[in-house]
Amino acid sequence: NQHRLRDRFGRHVDYLRVSVTDKCDLRCSYCMPKGFRGFEEPENWLSFAEIERVVAAFGRLGVKRVRLTGGEPLLRRKLPDLVAALASHRELEDISLSTNATQLEKHAQALFDAGVGRINVSLDSLDRACVQQITGSDSFEQVLRGLQRAKQVGIQPIKLNMVVMRGINDHEVSRMTAFCMREGFILRFIEAMPMGSTGQASAYCDLGPIRDQLVREFDLVPVVKELGGGPARYWQSRDGSATIGFISPISQHFCASCNRVRLAVDGTLYMCLGQEAAFPLRPYLRSGISEDDLEALLIEAIELKPERHEFSNKPYQVLRFMSQTGG
Ligand code: GTP
Ligand code: 5AD
Ligand code: SF4
Repeated sequence: NQHRLRDRFGRHVDYLRVSVTDKCDLRCSYCMPKGFRGFEEPENWLSFAEIERVVAAFGRLGVKRVRLTGGEPLLRRKLPDLVAALASHRELEDISLSTNATQLEKHAQALFDAGVGRINVSLDSLDRACVQQITGSDSFEQVLRGLQRAKQVGIQPIKLNMVVMRGINDHEVSRMTAFCMREGFILRFIEAMPMGSTGQASAYCDLGPIRDQLVREFDLVPVVKELGGGPARYWQSRDGSATIGFISPISQHFCASCNRVRLAVDGTLYMCLGQEAAFPLRPYLRSGISEDDLEALLIEAIELKPERHEFSNKPYQVLRFMSQTGG
Protein backbone atom coordinates (compact mmCIF):
# COMPACT_ATOMS: atom_id res chain seq x y z
CA ASN A 1 0.00 0.00 0.00
CA GLN A 2 3.00 2.27 0.11
CA HIS A 3 2.88 5.26 -2.16
CA ARG A 4 -0.25 4.59 -4.12
CA LEU A 5 -0.74 8.33 -4.45
CA ARG A 6 1.46 9.35 -7.31
CA ASP A 7 0.60 12.36 -9.42
CA ARG A 8 1.09 13.01 -13.14
CA PHE A 9 4.52 14.46 -12.45
CA GLY A 10 5.82 11.48 -10.48
CA ARG A 11 5.48 13.11 -7.07
CA HIS A 12 4.32 11.00 -4.10
CA VAL A 13 1.72 12.52 -1.82
CA ASP A 14 2.51 11.48 1.74
CA TYR A 15 1.50 14.63 3.65
CA LEU A 16 -2.12 15.65 4.23
CA ARG A 17 -3.06 19.01 5.68
CA VAL A 18 -6.48 19.07 7.28
CA SER A 19 -8.27 22.33 7.97
CA VAL A 20 -10.67 21.87 10.88
CA THR A 21 -12.23 25.34 10.68
CA ASP A 22 -11.95 28.39 8.45
CA LYS A 23 -12.62 30.70 11.41
CA CYS A 24 -9.91 32.59 13.19
CA ASP A 25 -9.69 34.96 16.15
CA LEU A 26 -6.97 36.99 14.38
CA ARG A 27 -6.97 38.83 11.05
CA CYS A 28 -3.35 38.63 9.86
CA SER A 29 -2.88 41.13 7.07
CA TYR A 30 -1.62 38.53 4.55
CA CYS A 31 -4.33 36.02 5.38
CA MET A 32 -7.79 37.52 5.95
CA PRO A 33 -9.45 40.86 5.35
CA LYS A 34 -10.38 42.91 8.40
CA GLY A 35 -13.99 42.34 9.33
CA PHE A 36 -14.14 39.06 7.40
CA ARG A 37 -16.75 36.70 8.83
CA GLY A 38 -15.86 33.35 7.29
CA PHE A 39 -17.11 31.26 4.40
CA GLU A 40 -18.60 28.10 5.75
CA GLU A 41 -21.55 27.33 7.94
CA PRO A 42 -21.08 24.55 10.48
CA GLU A 43 -23.58 22.22 8.77
CA ASN A 44 -21.19 22.07 5.82
CA TRP A 45 -18.24 21.18 8.01
CA LEU A 46 -16.95 17.65 7.99
CA SER A 47 -17.56 15.94 11.33
CA PHE A 48 -14.63 14.42 13.21
CA ALA A 49 -15.84 10.99 12.07
CA GLU A 50 -15.80 12.14 8.42
CA ILE A 51 -12.36 13.68 8.77
CA GLU A 52 -11.04 10.51 10.42
CA ARG A 53 -12.47 8.43 7.59
CA VAL A 54 -10.75 10.51 4.92
CA VAL A 55 -7.47 10.57 6.83
CA ALA A 56 -7.60 6.79 7.34
CA ALA A 57 -8.16 6.26 3.62
CA PHE A 58 -5.19 8.49 2.86
CA GLY A 59 -3.20 6.53 5.44
CA ARG A 60 -3.95 3.26 3.65
CA LEU A 61 -2.71 4.88 0.45
CA GLY A 62 0.65 5.85 1.92
CA VAL A 63 0.14 9.17 3.73
CA LYS A 64 2.38 9.25 6.81
CA ARG A 65 2.06 12.85 7.98
CA VAL A 66 -1.05 14.77 8.95
CA ARG A 67 -1.08 18.43 9.92
CA LEU A 68 -4.14 20.07 11.46
CA THR A 69 -4.61 23.66 10.37
CA GLY A 70 -7.32 26.25 9.85
CA GLY A 71 -8.21 29.12 10.14
CA GLU A 72 -7.22 28.63 13.73
CA PRO A 73 -7.58 24.92 14.54
CA LEU A 74 -7.92 25.45 18.30
CA LEU A 75 -11.24 27.23 17.67
CA ARG A 76 -12.74 23.86 16.71
CA ARG A 77 -14.30 22.42 19.84
CA LYS A 78 -12.81 19.22 21.29
CA LEU A 79 -9.90 19.17 18.87
CA PRO A 80 -7.91 16.80 21.14
CA ASP A 81 -10.64 14.18 20.53
CA LEU A 82 -9.88 14.32 16.82
CA VAL A 83 -6.16 14.09 17.51
CA ALA A 84 -6.69 11.01 19.67
CA ALA A 85 -8.81 9.37 16.99
CA LEU A 86 -6.17 10.03 14.31
CA ALA A 87 -3.37 8.87 16.59
CA SER A 88 -5.01 5.46 16.83
CA HIS A 89 -4.12 4.94 13.15
CA ARG A 90 -0.62 3.58 13.56
CA GLU A 91 0.45 4.19 9.96
CA LEU A 92 0.38 7.94 10.69
CA GLU A 93 3.86 8.64 11.96
CA ASP A 94 3.58 12.38 12.37
CA ILE A 95 0.58 14.33 13.71
CA SER A 96 1.26 18.03 13.93
CA LEU A 97 -0.59 21.30 14.34
CA SER A 98 -0.20 24.82 12.90
CA THR A 99 -1.66 27.38 15.30
CA ASN A 100 -1.60 31.07 16.14
CA ALA A 101 -1.21 30.01 19.80
CA THR A 102 -3.76 32.43 21.26
CA GLN A 103 -5.54 29.42 22.85
CA LEU A 104 -2.48 27.24 23.28
CA GLU A 105 -1.90 27.90 26.96
CA LYS A 106 -5.26 26.32 27.71
CA HIS A 107 -5.00 23.37 25.31
CA ALA A 108 -1.32 22.39 25.13
CA GLN A 109 -1.48 19.59 27.71
CA ALA A 110 -4.59 17.97 26.22
CA LEU A 111 -3.13 18.17 22.71
CA PHE A 112 0.14 16.62 23.80
CA ASP A 113 -1.65 13.84 25.70
CA ALA A 114 -3.82 13.14 22.66
CA GLY A 115 -0.81 12.70 20.40
CA VAL A 116 0.27 16.01 18.85
CA GLY A 117 3.97 15.44 18.40
CA ARG A 118 5.01 18.88 17.28
CA ILE A 119 3.58 22.31 16.54
CA ASN A 120 4.24 25.28 14.29
CA VAL A 121 3.24 28.67 15.69
CA SER A 122 2.70 31.91 13.77
CA LEU A 123 4.55 34.85 15.28
CA ASP A 124 5.62 37.68 13.00
CA SER A 125 7.12 40.12 15.48
CA LEU A 126 8.49 40.49 19.01
CA ASP A 127 7.02 43.95 19.29
CA ARG A 128 3.60 44.06 20.89
CA ALA A 129 2.39 47.02 18.82
CA CYS A 130 3.67 45.47 15.61
CA VAL A 131 1.89 42.18 16.39
CA GLN A 132 -1.26 44.18 16.95
CA GLN A 133 -0.82 45.95 13.64
CA ILE A 134 -0.28 42.69 11.71
CA THR A 135 -2.88 40.50 13.42
CA GLY A 136 -5.46 43.17 14.29
CA SER A 137 -5.38 42.03 17.90
CA ASP A 138 -3.30 42.60 21.02
CA SER A 139 -2.36 38.93 21.16
CA PHE A 140 1.40 39.02 21.79
CA GLU A 141 1.51 38.24 25.52
CA GLN A 142 -1.04 35.46 25.15
CA VAL A 143 0.99 33.85 22.34
CA LEU A 144 4.14 33.96 24.49
CA ARG A 145 2.28 32.25 27.32
CA GLY A 146 1.04 29.62 24.89
CA LEU A 147 4.57 28.97 23.67
CA GLN A 148 5.90 28.61 27.22
CA ARG A 149 3.16 26.16 28.14
CA ALA A 150 3.79 24.09 25.02
CA LYS A 151 7.45 23.87 25.97
CA GLN A 152 6.59 22.89 29.55
CA VAL A 153 4.33 20.04 28.53
CA GLY A 154 7.07 18.66 26.28
CA ILE A 155 5.91 19.41 22.75
CA GLN A 156 9.08 19.23 20.69
CA PRO A 157 10.12 20.64 18.30
CA ILE A 158 8.30 23.96 18.36
CA LYS A 159 8.69 25.91 15.14
CA LEU A 160 7.94 29.61 14.78
CA ASN A 161 6.60 30.90 11.47
CA MET A 162 7.44 34.51 10.65
CA VAL A 163 6.00 35.95 7.43
CA VAL A 164 8.57 38.60 6.52
CA MET A 165 7.07 41.81 5.14
CA ARG A 166 9.09 44.65 3.76
CA GLY A 167 8.93 47.77 5.89
CA ILE A 168 6.78 46.06 8.50
CA ASN A 169 8.85 43.44 10.31
CA ASP A 170 11.89 42.80 8.10
CA HIS A 171 14.07 44.76 10.57
CA GLU A 172 13.33 42.12 13.20
CA VAL A 173 14.91 39.07 11.57
CA SER A 174 18.10 39.12 13.70
CA ARG A 175 16.22 39.77 16.89
CA MET A 176 13.79 36.94 16.14
CA THR A 177 16.73 34.61 15.43
CA ALA A 178 18.33 35.47 18.79
CA PHE A 179 14.98 34.94 20.55
CA CYS A 180 14.53 31.50 19.02
CA MET A 181 18.11 30.49 19.87
CA ARG A 182 17.45 31.42 23.47
CA GLU A 183 14.11 29.63 23.64
CA GLY A 184 15.10 26.55 21.66
CA PHE A 185 12.56 27.16 18.89
CA ILE A 186 13.20 26.43 15.22
CA LEU A 187 12.56 29.63 13.28
CA ARG A 188 11.19 29.75 9.73
CA PHE A 189 11.02 32.86 7.63
CA ILE A 190 8.23 32.85 5.03
CA GLU A 191 7.59 34.85 1.87
CA ALA A 192 3.99 36.09 1.75
CA MET A 193 1.97 34.57 -1.07
CA PRO A 194 -0.73 36.62 -2.77
CA MET A 195 -3.73 34.59 -1.60
CA GLY A 196 -7.13 36.28 -1.86
CA SER A 197 -7.59 40.02 -1.78
CA THR A 198 -7.26 40.86 1.91
CA GLY A 199 -7.43 44.58 1.25
CA GLN A 200 -4.05 44.99 2.96
CA ALA A 201 -0.92 46.32 1.37
CA SER A 202 1.01 43.48 -0.22
CA ALA A 203 4.44 43.61 1.38
CA TYR A 204 6.36 40.86 -0.35
CA CYS A 205 9.95 40.54 0.77
CA ASP A 206 12.50 38.40 -1.09
CA LEU A 207 14.18 36.14 1.49
CA GLY A 208 17.40 35.71 -0.55
CA PRO A 209 19.21 38.80 0.77
CA ILE A 210 17.93 38.16 4.30
CA ARG A 211 19.34 34.65 4.23
CA ASP A 212 22.72 35.94 3.06
CA GLN A 213 22.76 38.48 5.88
CA LEU A 214 21.87 35.91 8.55
CA VAL A 215 24.35 33.35 7.24
CA ARG A 216 27.11 35.90 7.85
CA GLU A 217 25.75 37.21 11.12
CA PHE A 218 25.12 33.81 12.77
CA ASP A 219 27.74 31.80 10.86
CA LEU A 220 25.15 29.42 9.40
CA VAL A 221 25.73 26.24 7.39
CA PRO A 222 23.11 24.28 5.41
CA VAL A 223 21.38 21.38 7.19
CA VAL A 224 21.21 18.13 5.25
CA LYS A 225 18.98 16.18 7.63
CA GLU A 226 15.21 16.40 7.04
CA LEU A 227 13.46 18.56 9.66
CA GLY A 228 9.76 17.97 9.13
CA GLY A 229 7.90 17.26 5.95
CA GLY A 230 7.58 20.71 4.52
CA PRO A 231 9.12 23.04 1.98
CA ALA A 232 11.56 24.87 4.27
CA ARG A 233 15.26 24.85 3.49
CA TYR A 234 17.21 24.79 6.74
CA TRP A 235 20.42 26.31 7.99
CA GLN A 236 22.12 25.92 11.35
CA SER A 237 24.75 27.76 13.39
CA ARG A 238 27.94 25.72 13.78
CA ASP A 239 27.37 25.24 17.51
CA GLY A 240 23.85 23.95 16.78
CA SER A 241 22.14 26.62 18.88
CA ALA A 242 20.19 28.17 15.99
CA THR A 243 18.13 26.37 13.35
CA ILE A 244 16.54 28.55 10.71
CA GLY A 245 14.33 27.58 7.80
CA PHE A 246 13.52 29.60 4.72
CA ILE A 247 10.19 29.10 2.96
CA SER A 248 10.45 30.94 -0.34
CA PRO A 249 7.43 30.06 -2.48
CA ILE A 250 7.99 33.09 -4.71
CA SER A 251 11.74 33.59 -5.08
CA GLN A 252 12.68 29.88 -5.04
CA HIS A 253 9.58 27.77 -5.39
CA PHE A 254 9.63 24.16 -4.20
CA CYS A 255 6.80 22.73 -6.29
CA ALA A 256 8.93 20.00 -7.89
CA SER A 257 9.17 18.29 -4.50
CA CYS A 258 5.62 19.05 -3.34
CA ASN A 259 4.29 16.11 -1.33
CA ARG A 260 0.96 17.37 -0.06
CA VAL A 261 -2.71 18.05 -0.64
CA ARG A 262 -5.17 19.90 1.60
CA LEU A 263 -8.55 18.88 2.95
CA ALA A 264 -10.63 22.00 3.61
CA VAL A 265 -13.23 22.09 6.38
CA ASP A 266 -16.08 21.67 3.89
CA GLY A 267 -14.54 18.49 2.50
CA THR A 268 -13.00 20.04 -0.61
CA LEU A 269 -9.64 18.57 -1.47
CA TYR A 270 -7.32 21.31 -2.76
CA MET A 271 -4.41 20.14 -4.86
CA CYS A 272 -2.23 23.24 -4.60
CA LEU A 273 -2.21 26.42 -2.55
CA GLY A 274 -1.76 28.53 -5.62
CA GLN A 275 -4.16 26.89 -8.08
CA GLU A 276 -7.88 26.34 -8.32
CA ALA A 277 -7.67 22.55 -8.89
CA ALA A 278 -9.93 20.87 -6.34
CA PHE A 279 -12.08 17.80 -5.74
CA PRO A 280 -15.27 17.91 -3.61
CA LEU A 281 -15.34 14.88 -1.27
CA ARG A 282 -18.27 15.83 0.94
CA PRO A 283 -21.07 14.74 -1.42
CA TYR A 284 -19.46 11.28 -1.72
CA LEU A 285 -18.92 10.97 2.03
CA ARG A 286 -22.57 11.80 2.64
CA SER A 287 -23.95 9.41 0.06
CA GLY A 288 -22.53 6.25 1.61
CA ILE A 289 -19.47 5.62 -0.53
CA SER A 290 -17.59 2.38 0.22
CA GLU A 291 -13.99 2.36 1.50
CA ASP A 292 -12.75 0.90 -1.79
CA ASP A 293 -14.53 3.54 -3.82
CA LEU A 294 -13.24 6.28 -1.54
CA GLU A 295 -9.66 5.10 -2.09
CA ALA A 296 -10.24 4.98 -5.84
CA LEU A 297 -11.61 8.51 -5.71
CA LEU A 298 -8.54 9.80 -3.87
CA ILE A 299 -6.22 8.15 -6.39
CA GLU A 300 -8.22 9.79 -9.17
CA ALA A 301 -8.22 13.18 -7.42
CA ILE A 302 -4.43 13.21 -7.15
CA GLU A 303 -4.34 13.20 -10.97
CA LEU A 304 -5.64 16.78 -10.76
CA LYS A 305 -2.56 18.03 -8.95
CA PRO A 306 -1.00 20.78 -11.08
CA GLU A 307 2.71 20.97 -11.74
CA ARG A 308 3.26 24.20 -9.83
CA HIS A 309 1.65 27.31 -8.46
CA GLU A 310 1.33 30.32 -10.71
CA PHE A 311 2.11 32.99 -8.15
CA SER A 312 4.46 35.68 -9.18
CA ASN A 313 5.25 38.82 -7.32
CA LYS A 314 1.91 40.31 -8.34
CA PRO A 315 -1.18 40.62 -6.20
CA TYR A 316 -3.96 38.08 -5.85
CA GLN A 317 -3.94 35.41 -8.49
CA VAL A 318 -5.90 32.96 -6.38
CA LEU A 319 -9.21 34.15 -5.07
CA ARG A 320 -9.41 31.92 -2.01
CA PHE A 321 -8.00 33.15 1.27
CA MET A 322 -5.38 31.10 3.04
CA SER A 323 -7.86 30.42 5.83
CA GLN A 324 -10.30 28.88 3.37
CA THR A 325 -7.83 26.46 1.84
CA GLY A 326 -6.10 25.60 5.07
CA GLY A 327 -2.79 27.32 5.82
P1 GTP B 1 6.68 20.97 8.55
O1 GTP B 1 7.83 21.19 7.66
O2 GTP B 1 6.17 19.57 8.47
O3 GTP B 1 6.93 21.40 9.94
O4 GTP B 1 5.43 21.84 8.07
P2 GTP B 1 5.17 23.02 7.08
O5 GTP B 1 6.28 23.99 7.06
O6 GTP B 1 4.73 22.45 5.78
O7 GTP B 1 3.88 23.64 7.79
P3 GTP B 1 3.35 25.07 8.19
O8 GTP B 1 1.89 24.93 8.46
O9 GTP B 1 4.12 25.65 9.31
O10 GTP B 1 3.55 25.91 6.88
C1 GTP B 1 4.46 26.93 6.79
C2 GTP B 1 4.32 27.70 5.51
O11 GTP B 1 4.85 26.98 4.44
C3 GTP B 1 2.91 27.99 5.08
O12 GTP B 1 2.51 29.14 5.65
C4 GTP B 1 3.10 28.30 3.63
O13 GTP B 1 3.55 29.62 3.54
C5 GTP B 1 4.22 27.37 3.26
N1 GTP B 1 3.68 26.19 2.60
C6 GTP B 1 3.34 25.03 3.18
N2 GTP B 1 2.88 24.16 2.26
C7 GTP B 1 2.94 24.81 1.07
C8 GTP B 1 2.59 24.45 -0.25
O14 GTP B 1 2.12 23.36 -0.54
N3 GTP B 1 2.78 25.37 -1.23
C9 GTP B 1 3.28 26.58 -0.95
N4 GTP B 1 3.46 27.41 -1.98
N5 GTP B 1 3.62 26.96 0.29
C10 GTP B 1 3.44 26.10 1.29
N1 5AD C 1 1.56 33.67 2.54
C1 5AD C 1 2.45 32.93 3.24
N2 5AD C 1 2.19 32.38 4.41
C2 5AD C 1 0.97 32.57 4.92
N3 5AD C 1 0.42 32.14 6.08
C3 5AD C 1 -0.86 32.58 6.11
N4 5AD C 1 -1.14 33.31 5.01
C4 5AD C 1 -0.01 33.32 4.26
C5 5AD C 1 0.33 33.88 3.01
N5 5AD C 1 -0.55 34.64 2.32
C6 5AD C 1 1.14 31.31 7.05
C7 5AD C 1 1.10 31.77 8.50
C8 5AD C 1 0.97 30.47 9.27
C9 5AD C 1 1.03 29.40 8.23
C10 5AD C 1 0.24 28.18 8.53
O1 5AD C 1 0.56 30.03 7.08
O2 5AD C 1 2.30 32.37 8.85
O3 5AD C 1 2.03 30.30 10.17
FE1 SF4 D 1 -5.56 33.37 11.63
FE2 SF4 D 1 -3.32 32.03 10.90
FE3 SF4 D 1 -4.66 33.46 9.11
FE4 SF4 D 1 -3.36 34.73 11.05
S1 SF4 D 1 -2.42 33.40 9.45
S2 SF4 D 1 -5.47 35.19 10.36
S3 SF4 D 1 -3.59 33.35 12.75
S4 SF4 D 1 -5.41 31.65 10.16
